[in-house]
Amino acid sequence: MNVVDSEVVVAILQQNDYCITDQMDEADLILVNTCSIRDNAEQRIRSRLKEFKRIKQQNAQVSVGVIGCMAERLKEKLLEDETIVDLVVGPDAYRELPALLSEVESGQKGINTLLSLEETYGDIRPVRMDRNHVTSFVSIMRGCDNFCAYCVVPETRGRERSRDPETIIGEATGLFEKGYREVTLLGQNVNSYQWEKGSRVLTFEELLEQVARIDPLLRVRFATSHPKDMSDNLLKVMARFSNLCRAIHLPVQSGSSAVLERMKRRYTREHYLERISAIRKYLPGASISTDVITGFCGETEEEHQQTLSLMEWVGYDFSYMFKYNERPGTLAQRKYRDDVPEKIKSRRLSEIIELQMRLSLESKERDLGQTCEVLVEGISKKSEDHLFGRTSQNKVVVFPKGLLKPGDYVDVTINRCTSATLIGNPAQPADPEQ
Ligand code: 5AD
Ligand code: SF4
Repeated sequence: MNVVDSEVVVAILQQNDYCITDQMDEADLILVNTCSIRDNAEQRIRSRLKEFKRIKQQNAQVSVGVIGCMAERLKEKLLEDETIVDLVVGPDAYRELPALLSEVESGQKGINTLLSLEETYGDIRPVRMDRNHVTSFVSIMRGCDNFCAYCVVPETRGRERSRDPETIIGEATGLFEKGYREVTLLGQNVNSYQWEKGSRVLTFEELLEQVARIDPLLRVRFATSHPKDMSDNLLKVMARFSNLCRAIHLPVQSGSSAVLERMKRRYTREHYLERISAIRKYLPGASISTDVITGFCGETEEEHQQTLSLMEWVGYDFSYMFKYNERPGTLAQRKYRDDVPEKIKSRRLSEIIELQMRLSLESKERDLGQTCEVLVEGISKKSEDHLFGRTSQNKVVVFPKGLLKPGDYVDVTINRCTSATLIGNPAQPADPEQ
């Protein structure tokens, strides 16, 4: 999400004669795009600001701006706490950046943290900053109305709103024409995408179908789905298009219905498991990944065991795993006590990570001996002679380079694996003589 936002900011600033540099000491404006989801993300930003302070001491002309969720959450307080900051801009105010920068140039501080009910930056073509020119993100909606008890996002990114589908299709088509071969459609809860035109409402399923039809060579992914809203209809649409990737990210957060209730997730363990069965039915062989929070307010040992048993039952291919971190202004902070001791949170997180390591390895081992279609993304980090890419299931594959290049599709036969990576060789084409 923040990558796309940064790309939107670059587009806005380029229209106003700014240009981007990758040399920090050349810059006369440093903007840091921030996340507030957990406290450690904010602490990392505070240490980056110390680094920028040194740069500013060497060159007083440099301006420093904090943009994104942390700007939204802390507002004026950020200017008070961090005296080197000249500019504070929330996620819905990026169009105001040029005007705010003029204020900064005239020696004032610039701040705008107004949230909007409409802003989607739909008309702005983000300036891509990815390195591979093969895969990219396309924002389809902003904000979130779910108000999960632990989460700051509804406060920092505002109300949910969907982007005009014409601009989404235009952007995805433009990327394909430039040689990109994969887009990931992004929103906090993509299942509730809706665009009203006259008396018609375009749903997420219909949007996805339109993006899939751009070209069979364009792979399409999306994130994030909410388990309460993920419909059979979506799975049926996916089954009809082979370029809709066989990978579903379905954050569970906890395996206990009681914890889910306290989290205000609005589904039960049983509902979640039923959705997993639906994925297995309509998209056999699809990979499933998740987000898990451990140590939420009041979580008992038994509730923790339910998370482990759910993970085992689903057999996740991949998980993002977090310790619960109380965030100011959330329902959980107001209503519950953050009462699971840090030591217990750490132990439970280790157990979850250990289980996921085994499940990830088992997931990769299931592919041994199989041939998978891989979209080549770039040179492998470990060896110049190898490339890496991903399968439709979003598994990373490393293989010898040969004459292949980023953006190519290649069938790779898998012969080794670790818990994180598949390793193989391009499959030999069938012998035409036989
Ligand atoms: N503490 C820990 N993890 C959190 N997440 C969101 N808020 C918190 C929090 N307060 C996690 C959830 C979400 C992911 C993006 O971040 O798992 O799905
Ligand atoms: Fe946060 Fe819940 Fe919205 Fe996801 S769905 S962004 S966890 S409030």
